[in-house]
Amino acid sequence: TTFKVGYIVGSLAKGSINRLLSKALVQLAPPALQLVEIPIRDLPLYSYDYDADYPPVARAFKQAIAEVDAILFVTPEYNRSIPGGLKNAIDWASRPWGRNSFARKPSGVIGTSPGSIGTAVAQAHLRGVLCFCNSPLMNTMEAYIQFKPGLISEDGTVSDESTTEFLSNYMKELHVFIERVLTVLPRED
Ligand code: FNR
Repeated sequence: TTFKVGYIVGSLAKGSINRLLSKALVQLAPPALQLVEIPIRDLPLYSYDYDADYPPVARAFKQAIAEVDAILFVTPEYNRSIPGGLKNAIDWASRPWGRNSFARKPSGVIGTSPGSIGTAVAQAHLRGVLCFCNSPLMNTMEAYIQFKPGLISEDGTVSDESTTEFLSNYMKELHVFIERVLTVLPRED
């Protein structure tokens, strides 16, 4: 079965290495996964004062999540957690109360950093957040990608064979996971 996967890049930086990773994942995904980016850059800072009347940018963000079968988070680690911009986006999507966009929406988490633990702590935090948001999370594979200069080119081509294979397997597993979750928990909309 073919699925639509919305990917969210946790970094807003022009030179983001996680954006490069997302480009690599788009290239390496099996044909049955159709990847579309769900941007977070233009969301204002969330407050529940908006709950009665979400601004158009936040409505569009929730709508984009509603239109995909699963979400893939590609995130850096900032100060041993997820970037504030990503947490802000998740807060928007999780509200208003009773209209949590992540409920029953399968997700996967991946990230890269130059450090040797490759965003492991940020990913652990993100998993906690997504559990609370009732998103069925792919537990394995885990993917902590240590970024070395030249690992991924601007167009998303990965320069070393073992990383290429690992990322391809990650996307294959994500496909299997989405299929399994949506067989047990079919979408209601
Ligand atoms: C970092 N960096 C970083 N790296 C890491 O492995 N663990 C960490 O806790 C942090 N903390 C941190 C905080 C802040 C505010 C910045 C800007 C950076 C380094 C980080 O991994 C590196 O800048 C990556 O390039 C970030 O990914 P993007 O934004 O390029 O995708």
